[in-house]
Amino acid sequence: MRKLLISAVIAMTATSALAAGITKEDAVESRRAYYRVLGHDMATLSALAKGEIEYNADTAKTAVANMMLLGKYDTERLYPAGTSNADMPGKTRALPVIWEDMDGLHAKADATNEALVAMNEAAGEGRAALGKALGKLGGSCKGCHSDYRSKDF
Ligand code: HEC
Repeated sequence: MRKLLISAVIAMTATSALAAGITKEDAVESRRAYYRVLGHDMATLSALAKGEIEYNADTAKTAVANMMLLGKYDTERLYPAGTSNADMPGKTRALPVIWEDMDGLHAKADATNEALVAMNEAAGEGRAALGKALGKLGGSCKGCHSDYRSKDF
């Protein structure tokens, strides 16, 4: 038993931040799924702003609430060491620079969270107000993607 525990501790240290039983592939899939859900609600906001779906304050407010909830999610464990696109080509677009600059990544996430606060105030106030706030929000997503996400796999 003691020996088992020790090897578990060694395994965890070797893979850094990955809990036993969670593979790098799992972490990457979860990371991408996290952003996909964020993108799903963003698409709703965008469709409302463009008039592709009829403006509805409740629909808009729910989408923002979902995104704010995701903004509170601690993404730290979605970024274990060894899961950049250099380590796992074809599986992820996360650039290696992320692991050299986690603070920078978090600052970009803060910018999105700030834009979400503004969006939260605007979303229920009509299509025009929603559209205005959407530019800032979309810009905050791009702000992170341009530095930390590669264009292609
Ligand atoms: C803090 C940085 C950061 C912010 C802020 C951010 N993203 Fe991303 N996003 C990423 C990274 C990194 C990836 C690549 C993940 C991977 O491939 O492992 C990604 C991937 C995605 C993907 C593709 C997921 C997939 O299926 O591979 C979508 C969609 C997405 N982001 C939408 C958004 C939207 C919408 C916002 C703004 C509301 C946003 N992101 C804000 C870093 C960020």
